[in-house]
Amino acid sequence: MSKVAIVTGSNRGIGFGIVKALCQRFDGVVYLTSRDELRGKEAVAKLKYMGLKPEYHQLDIADKSSVEKFRDHIKEKYEGIDILFNNAAVLDTEVDSRTYEDAKRVIDNNYRSIFYLKELIYPLIKNNGRVINISSDCGHLSNIRNEYWIKRLSKPDLTEADVNEFVEWYLESVKNGTYNCDDIADEGTIPSYRVTKVALAALTMVHQRELESKNISVNLIQPGLVRTDLTHGVGFFSVDEAVETPLYLALDAPPTLKGAYVWYDKKVIDWYDSKSDCYFKLSSMSS
Ligand SMILES: NC(=O)c1ccc[n+]([C@@H]2O[C@H](COP(=O)([O-])OP(=O)(O)OC[C@H]3O[C@@H](n4cnc5c(N)ncnc54)[C@H](OP(=O)(O)O)[C@@H]3O)[C@@H](O)[C@H]2O)c1
Repeated sequence: MSKVAIVTGSNRGIGFGIVKALCQRFDGVVYLTSRDELRGKEAVAKLKYMGLKPEYHQLDIADKSSVEKFRDHIKEKYEGIDILFNNAAVLDTEVDSRTYEDAKRVIDNNYRSIFYLKELIYPLIKNNGRVINISSDCGHLSNIRNEYWIKRLSKPDLTEADVNEFVEWYLESVKNGTYNCDDIADEGTIPSYRVTKVALAALTMVHQRELESKNISVNLIQPGLVRTDLTHGVGFFSVDEAVETPLYLALDAPPTLKGAYVWYDKKVIDWYDSKSDCYFKLSSMSS
């Protein structure tokens, strides 16, 4: 039976680059997935033109019925999943976005969707499989400046409920107008994206513990500032350069590397160091 690798949100940007690199290096089937079928099939056509052979399936991570259909498809065709890249994500509409609708959109898309994947897709991951969560410098704990949440998210026995409460606390504060930008680094810019990326990192620690019995690794990669649509083409790295470390985590990293927050240069960074300088600075976009 073939090995299987899946990349969410891979019709463009970093996800597309990961599919392309996996097609070149991974000894198995690679799934390019997208929420929009037309955009996905156009992306597949580009790779086929290069002589590569990805499989395609529609997958909107924020739509439970779409995740169910994809789960059924994989279950029917394969023994399980070897590699899963949780890549799909969206950004706040403005750097100082403060509306409830926008915050909820980002949270539904980037954070609540992970629970659909956990429920429906994670059970298909084989023993010794690898989950790579695409993080960001926005996902380091030092993005949070609220001492209560720093302490709670740092607990060794952290649970999904703790992380949910953190996200709800933020969403409620936006809803009732009490959001305090001092609770988030860099004057609280792109707050919803930062909250979802910190929450994804915290969930990574929880899921690593839960998946330990199957020897599955769950790691985070901070790909650096990459020239994609998300950054309006601003960045230090091309997509092809940026996918090197995500591919390393999927194919080359030692299986003992678990629950790690990995910087784009492959260095493992202490995610819990809330006083570190690893947080995202908006000024890095213009330097
Ligand atoms: N670029 C950077 O500098 C940078 C830095 C740090 C971290 N990251 C992270 O890297 C990942 C990829 O970012 P990118 O720069 O490649 O962004 P991008 O160019 O905006 O691409 C995002 C991809 O995610 C897809 N997507 C969003 N929501 C989805 C959903 N609900 N279901 C399925 N697909 C969905 C988009 O699909 P549509 O085409 O349909 O919109 C698109 O294919 C994200 O997790 C991002 O946070 C990027």
